[in-house]
Amino acid sequence: MKSTAAMLRTAPGALTLETIEVDAPAETEVRVKTSAVGLCHSDLHIIRGHNRRPLPMVLGHEAVGEVVDVGSQVTHVRPGDRVIACLSEHCGWCEYCLSGRLFLCDRADLARPPGRPPRLSQSGDTVHAGFGIGAFSEYFLVHQSAVTAVPDPLPHEYAALLGCAVVTGMGAVFHTAQVRPGETMAVVGCGGIGLSAIQAGRIAGAGIIAAFDTDRAKFSKALKLGATHVFDPTRPEDLAEFRKLTGGVDHGFDAVGGPTVAASTFSLLRKGGTCTLIGMPAEDDNYTLPAMPLLMGRRVQGSLMGSNRFPIDIPRYARMALSGDLDLQSMLAKTVTLSELEATYQGMDSGSAGRTVLVFDEESR
Ligand SMILES: NC(=O)c1ccc[n+]([C@@H]2O[C@H](COP(=O)([O-])OP(=O)(O)OC[C@H]3O[C@@H](n4cnc5c(N)ncnc54)[C@H](O)[C@@H]3O)[C@@H](O)[C@H]2O)c1
Ligand SMILES: [Zn+2]
Ligand SMILES: [Zn+2]
Repeated sequence: MKSTAAMLRTAPGALTLETIEVDAPAETEVRVKTSAVGLCHSDLHIIRGHNRRPLPMVLGHEAVGEVVDVGSQVTHVRPGDRVIACLSEHCGWCEYCLSGRLFLCDRADLARPPGRPPRLSQSGDTVHAGFGIGAFSEYFLVHQSAVTAVPDPLPHEYAALLGCAVVTGMGAVFHTAQVRPGETMAVVGCGGIGLSAIQAGRIAGAGIIAAFDTDRAKFSKALKLGATHVFDPTRPEDLAEFRKLTGGVDHGFDAVGGPTVAASTFSLLRKGGTCTLIGMPAEDDNYTLPAMPLLMGRRVQGSLMGSNRFPIDIPRYARMALSGDLDLQSMLAKTVTLSELEATYQGMDSGSAGRTVLVFDEESR
């Protein structure tokens, strides 16, 4: 099946619109007509060459769409189903899957067996799918474990957010850190991931939710979604005010990535506090932490994709969105079309507050 896709050929580089071939599903695969895809910073890290991946590649992993056709062994979704993709595809049988940590799955046997044509190609040459999904494309093709069905009433520009931003940010709070009512927290970075962590803090009943961002334009959304206080980490007076208010927090969340933000998030903790690292580091980053504060009962942990069990989590988050407990509307900054994608990614650092979502509609086809 032919599909117009945004292709990355070099990194750092730009996305170019090209026609690719999306193969028919193999036994365990699902082919999906894309409705909407959120613009996650993890794709931007690849576009900028901070995280190296095989090229050419079609990025886009925070996606919702409609199942077009399925392989003979696919049992949990059918053509016509509305599905959300999540990059935490999983085998169901490895030690990680069986111990409830499918986000760490060894992923043996999920790729196509040798000898088969590639899932995505162009003139017979392999095109790689970013994070196993490749949804900046009219159609994408994934292993069946990378999708879960969602209720229809949720508009697709909101539903897309569930696949990465929400599952990652909310999961970091609920699953990885397990924030309890009354505990205090700080979230550094108020993009799609940070705003989701802030919402989860509100839902978990956190006592104080201090949001940090270097861009003050992000403050109003953070406050709307549950932050109790907002701070600019570059201003010493803001840091002093935070210290006076909290004396250090029980939970710090780095929703930016890299050694500087990881260390400053750690510095926001009180004794016994936990620093949860969500932001993606560059390929060769090392993190350095002061030893004595670490000895004082503080902990540091990574959170991969919000330690998710997404086939359970995403339908739950969808119901929370429908009931109004989870505010996806306020997380949306704007929608763009495929032809606006490259310019939007280039301007993402100074972009509008909230998540920008690529929307496919009949007119753009
Ligand atoms: N752990 C995971 O599994 C996982 C999953 C998805 C995304 N991520 C990573 O999470 C991070 C955030 O992703 P996103 O899509 O929300 O990004 P985003 O670009 O939407 O938002 C980043 C926010 O951080 C702010 N910021 C930048 N530098 C800052 C600093 N020094 N201090 C405070 N705020 C700062 C920006 O103004 C922006 O509001 C990225 O590194 C992304 O790759 C990790
Ligand atoms: Zn993502
Ligand atoms: Zn597994």
